[in-house]
This record gives sequence, structure tokens and C-alpha cells, in this order.
Amino acid sequence: MCGIIGYVGKAEAVPILLEGLKRLEYRGYDSAGVATLEEGLVSVRKEVGRIDDLRRSIALNPIGGSTGISHTRWATHGKVTRENAHPHLDRSGKLALVHNGVIENYAELRTQLEEEGHLFVSQTDTEALAQLVGRAFDRSTERNQGALVSAVREALTHVKGTYGIAVVHAELPGLIIGARRGSPLVLGIGKGEHFLASDVSAIVGHTRDVVYLNDYEIAAITGEGFVLSTIDGAGAGYNVTTVDMSHEDVDKGEYPHYMLKEIHEQVRSVTDALRGRLSHEEATAKLGGLNMSNGDLRSIERIVLSGCGTAFHAAMVGEYLIESLAQIPTECEYASEFRYRNLPMTKDTLVFVLSQSGETADTLAALRESQRKGHRTLGICNNVASTIARESDGGVYMHAGPEIGVAATKSFTSQVTVLTLIALLLGRIRNLSSSAGSRIISELEELPAKIDRVLKLEVEIAAIARRYAQSKVMLFMGRQYNYPVALEGALKLKEISYIAAMGYPSAELKHGVIALVNPETPSVVIAPNDAVFAKNLSNIEEVKARGGPVIAIGTEGKGNELSLICDDVILIPEASEILTPILASIVLQFFAYYIAVELGCDVDKPRNLAKSVTVE
Ligand code: F6R
Repeated sequence: MCGIIGYVGKAEAVPILLEGLKRLEYRGYDSAGVATLEEGLVSVRKEVGRIDDLRRSIALNPIGGSTGISHTRWATHGKVTRENAHPHLDRSGKLALVHNGVIENYAELRTQLEEEGHLFVSQTDTEALAQLVGRAFDRSTERNQGALVSAVREALTHVKGTYGIAVVHAELPGLIIGARRGSPLVLGIGKGEHFLASDVSAIVGHTRDVVYLNDYEIAAITGEGFVLSTIDGAGAGYNVTTVDMSHEDVDKGEYPHYMLKEIHEQVRSVTDALRGRLSHEEATAKLGGLNMSNGDLRSIERIVLSGCGTAFHAAMVGEYLIESLAQIPTECEYASEFRYRNLPMTKDTLVFVLSQSGETADTLAALRESQRKGHRTLGICNNVASTIARESDGGVYMHAGPEIGVAATKSFTSQVTVLTLIALLLGRIRNLSSSAGSRIISELEELPAKIDRVLKLEVEIAAIARRYAQSKVMLFMGRQYNYPVALEGALKLKEISYIAAMGYPSAELKHGVIALVNPETPSVVIAPNDAVFAKNLSNIEEVKARGGPVIAIGTEGKGNELSLICDDVILIPEASEILTPILASIVLQFFAYYIAVELGCDVDKPRNLAKSVTVE
């Protein structure tokens, strides 16, 4: 949700900033801009569209300088126009600022500044902040690093909302000030150069030594060094982290899209989610990061799982898993609803928040609200340095590797894998027998090989997907563990192909949705060989009786029954029903991907979306 990168050192800033923006493009991609300091002036270039549009525009009208800030935007306040693209300037035209987040009281600030004679050129919330910092700096008699830090500090005391910002001033070449509250900001340490970025992926090509800023911290960076302080003026300590991520990890490699690359990474990502966490001896999962003894875990009476979008769908699978294996009443709550509901939670309720990025604003708010109410709140995150990972009371990392494609793929299967481990652990300290535990462990160990077999269905799935690509509406259905998979399949298709898609529990069809069934509306039915296979067959018959085409996802060995009535059948390997969501969801990822490609959609950057939604 907006990406920012700043560079200060000896090299030309623009190529470094454009390359970094390209890697941050998944965070927002409706417009972009760069500001550099050269010859006592701020030079700004902005363009509506993608980073490549900005690159072309700069090639025609170049700017130089070895200090610069830049931004790729996901619009919140103000339309997608060049004026609204960042960086924004103050009234002197000497100060430029880029911002990720939302200034909630911007209207009030803007009115006040306009009354003082400040003219605004954009409709953004950010411009008010640029003007505030500029006003504070211009009131200062000093023209040095300390004065600019103080101006940023002063301005931020007036601001309500969230921000990750970077600021430069024409009179102070070789200096960038960054600050964060609620939006991520990482400082990269190079040799004679430093960076500020929303995400390490933007800077790993230059350095792997980073400092993750905490909320309410300000960083002043120069080529030679950096100083951290807090917004209330105190000094701030820091830890230098060496990130375990390479340039290659964040490249597409041989694949045309990140989404396809990430679908193919699922053998490895699920293997990594399981690695070192299975104990044959005790027939259970080992999850040290929960920071809870078996006694603590035994006293849990209720579980709440919270997340957004795909993470919420994974949570729904988790509800089935935990209730079935551990018999603990479990509830899923959209993170965006969590803090606005009077959800009855007994003191023995354990809360999990799920987030790939670990930065989703709604999920972070749910985490904080849950902790405020005194509940132990654990995270299931992918990004180990994220705010949610750092603020939660413990948790389980997904270890899926960077997920750049805006549509979540491998994070879903890793979340479900982790939830299976949690359910197994909770089950084993309650009623689940060691033989049942051992069986689940063996099945989990076989899972990566089964995923590999699903990946080999790619060509077959692609051919089927192309045949249905012109549909205007599609229905997705599944029961039990695969009802959330139907929701996830529909979400994948909607977000990358813009086809209206809806997910339902199969049996719900006859309570209303069946009115939509006709020869132009295909239904995708997830019908593996599980306890409800026969019920799913009846639901398929109901669709076929009304002329609706059916694409079924079934299990090898049960294909004949499906082939007799369905138009197309895709067969996943035989697996325990608790693991079918992982295999079936991969089929649906391919299905959505190939439909979107057939329609010529921009798979990695679907319209109106951005990865990591850091605004409420
Ligand atoms: C869908 C998708 C989103 C995210 C949601 C939560 O493909 O990517 O629905 O799942 O925004 O994101 P995280 O997991 O980063 O909190």
C-alpha cells in the first residue's frame, strides 16, 4: 500500500530509486514519482501509471543528484493524477516528502494551513504534512540536520493517522529524514550510502544490513551514517539485522509473472513450513514460538482466528481443523470487524492473527485490541520483521519466502499448513490419540510430493481454464474443509480476472443461489474423496439438472463418478480430508491465473488492488 524508497550516498540516485520502486510496485501502482537534490534545488518528476512510465518520462527529461526520495502510489485521498502523485512539496518548493499511510485529520490541517496562506495543488492528505514540515523548518533560524529533524518532529505532533515518510530539503543535500507510525520503514546500511524503504525487497540488491524502525521513531540518514531518535526527542537504540533474502528471491526468474512463480514454489514453501516441526516420537507438532507450555495450552477454552482476505479464508480452514482435531470451540473474525464488535471472549480465549505481510492495518489493529483486552495474541506471519510479528506475544512463522504477486497463493497453503500443525499440537495435549497424531504426521510428510503432482496438472488446468475464460459469472462450491477453499477460489478469480465469482457451501445452493445457474454460468465444485463426497455429487446433479456447466475437482480413483456428470474434472492425489484444501486451492490458483492470462489481465498488478493493505 504505497511504497517509498530513499537513497543518499555517492551514486546517481535515480537509477537506484527506479529499480527500488520497481520492486515495491506490488504495494501500489497507479502513479509514481521521484525527487532528487541537485544544485541547491529539488527536482521532481511524477507520472500517472507504472514505474516504466516514470522511467520513460525521466529519460526524456532527466534529473541527477545523489540524494533522492521516491514513491509508488495506491490512491487513498484524491484521484489518480500527476498532481496527486508523490513527492509533495511545501510552499517554498524546497522541501519534498513521500508518504505511505493516511493522515486522518488532514482536512482540518489543510483548512488551518490555507488560512495561513499556504496554497495546495493536490487533493491528497500528504500535502498537508509536507506543508506542515516546511512551515516548521522555515520558522527555524538554523539550517542543519537537527533543524530538519525538529521540523519533522514538530509537524508529526499535529498529525493523527499513520505514516512512513521520507523528507529531503534543497538546502541540506546529502540528508534524508524518515519517520514511521503504523506504516513500515526500514533503514538500509551500505558503504558510504544509506537507504530508507517500505520493504527490504527494494534494497536487498545493495545491502542486507538493515534496521527496522519502530513506531514513533525518526531516522536522519546521510552517506556516512545515521541517527535514530524518537518523536518525543529521546535517543533510540537499534539492532542491525542481516536479512536472509537475496535479489533472486524477489525476481520473477524464468516465469512471466510472480503469481505463477509463487504457485510453483509451494513444494518448497510447504516443506519449509513443516521443517523441524514434526515429532514422530511424540506424534505431535513442535512449535516453540508459541511461547506457551502444554499446561498453558491445555487451559485454553476458546480460540479466535482473525485476518483479512485470503488469510481469513485460511483461518476458516483452521476453524474446521482445530475444532475437529482439538475440540476447542473456534471462531473466525474478520480483522476489520474485530475491534468494532462486542465479541464475547472469556479470559481463557487465545487469539491468533494471520497475516502474510504482517503489516495489514486491520489485522494489526485486531492484534492490538486483543492485547489491550488482556488476551494472549499470537501471530501467524510470513514477514519475520513485520510489525505484527514483532508485536504479537509469540506465534508461528510461515517461512514461505517473499510473496510479491498481489494475489496471495503460497501464503494460503503455508497458513493452512501452520494451522494444521497448531491443531495437531492442541489435539495431542487433549483427546487426539498418538496413532491419529502419527497418521497426520505421515500425511503431512507426504504433502510436498502430492503438491508436486498437482503442479504437474498445470497444462491440463490451463486448457480447461481457457475454455471458461469468457464467462461473466462463476460459482464456486465446496463443503466442510473445502467451503473456505471455494471462497478462496472465487476471490482469486475475481481479483485477477474481474469475473464476478461467488463461493458457497455446496448445499446452500438450493437456498437461493441456484437461481443463478444457467448454461452460461459455470460452477466449480470442490468434491474430493471425503466424508461429504456423496453429498457433493447430489449438489452437482442439482446444477446439471438446470443446465449449468460443472468443473469438478475430485480425487484420483474417484474420477469416474465425477466424469459421468461433470463437464470437466481435475483430479488431485488421494489425501486425508484435512489436507485437501491445500491441494485443491493450488488447482484453483492455476485456474484463476490462466483465465486472467487468457483475458489479457495484468495478473501481478490487478486493478485497484495493492499487496499489504496498510490503511484501514
Ligand atoms: C488476496 C490477497 C488479500 C490478502 C489480505 C491480507 O489474494 O492477497 O486478500 O490476503 O489483504 O493480507 P496479509 O496476509 O498480508 O495480511
